[in-house]
Amino acid sequence: MTLKEDTMTYKTSIIDLIQRRKSCRSYAPRPLEPETKDRLHAFGTSLETPFWGNVPRFDLVDVGPPGRGRMPGTYGTIKGAGTFLVGAMKRGPGDMEDFGYLFEQLILLATDLDLATCWIGVTVARGPLQDKIRLQPQETIPAVSPLGYPARRRGLTDTVTRASLGSARRKPWSEMFFDGELGVPLDKQAAGDYAIPLEMVRQGPSATNKQPWRVVRQNGAFHFFLQRAAGYTRMTSAADLQRIDMGIAMCHFELAARELSLDGNWTAIKPWPSPLPKRCEYVVSWMPN
Ligand SMILES: Cc1cc2nc3c(=O)[nH]c(=O)nc-3n(C[C@H](O)[C@H](O)[C@H](O)COP(=O)(O)O)c2cc1C
Repeated sequence: MTLKEDTMTYKTSIIDLIQRRKSCRSYAPRPLEPETKDRLHAFGTSLETPFWGNVPRFDLVDVGPPGRGRMPGTYGTIKGAGTFLVGAMKRGPGDMEDFGYLFEQLILLATDLDLATCWIGVTVARGPLQDKIRLQPQETIPAVSPLGYPARRRGLTDTVTRASLGSARRKPWSEMFFDGELGVPLDKQAAGDYAIPLEMVRQGPSATNKQPWRVVRQNGAFHFFLQRAAGYTRMTSAADLQRIDMGIAMCHFELAARELSLDGNWTAIKPWPSPLPKRCEYVVSWMPN
């Protein structure tokens, strides 16, 4: 058990929150209330240790009044936000997956508080933030998110970015979820109770919307794989963004399963016993109780 037992942490159903969350790059000139910030702070320090045992630090960093032009440090991609949610992480095995798993819980809490967010791993200048959060030599900033209230209308950059990434689209089930072995599609009906947790994986955010998640159901267990995109480059040395995507998938799958009273635990089967396709890596397995 890695998540807080206290399911009252979110006031809304997690399944609704996952579907409501969308990346927002245009923010309104409305500051965050102190109690909202306190809530995020408190949540960020109360998260339980994730599967690989890496616990990041989270902080809120104000960079200027909201609603005023381009957000500093985002290379012009974010308009109007005045605050960053920042995470810092010591490097270690499973660090990026753990980071994705926990940071997404904060993103979903922000969604629950009616705030808008956008995972940012590429288009962020980490330098100025390092001083603000007193980054330690062994730490890295895998990703950040602007926090604020959404503008009434999307700005042009936001609209163009969403269109170029195809952000509203997701791969079909047949390319992501498999029955028995990779390549044999798992039918939604056949997924039974787990159709919703799997759909929540599919709805997740991912770096450049590459959706690298592959899940194989085998004898009741769900094995998670990372299928790296062809020609994928890490884009930034600070973080392996596709491993962060895997942590986000674990978060969505587990939170949705627990909300549906489908209990289980994560485990890693190492080494994975069968050969895998090119650029495909085994990550973790969900074992229902
Ligand atoms: C790990 C990660 C890194 C991301 N980095 C960026 C980024 O640097 N800049 C950006 O504009 N969007 C970034 N995104 C947002 C994705 O483009 C977005 O999640 C995807 O297009 C799907 O759209 P949606 O979040 O609205 O569902 C990132 C998302 C993830 C999960």
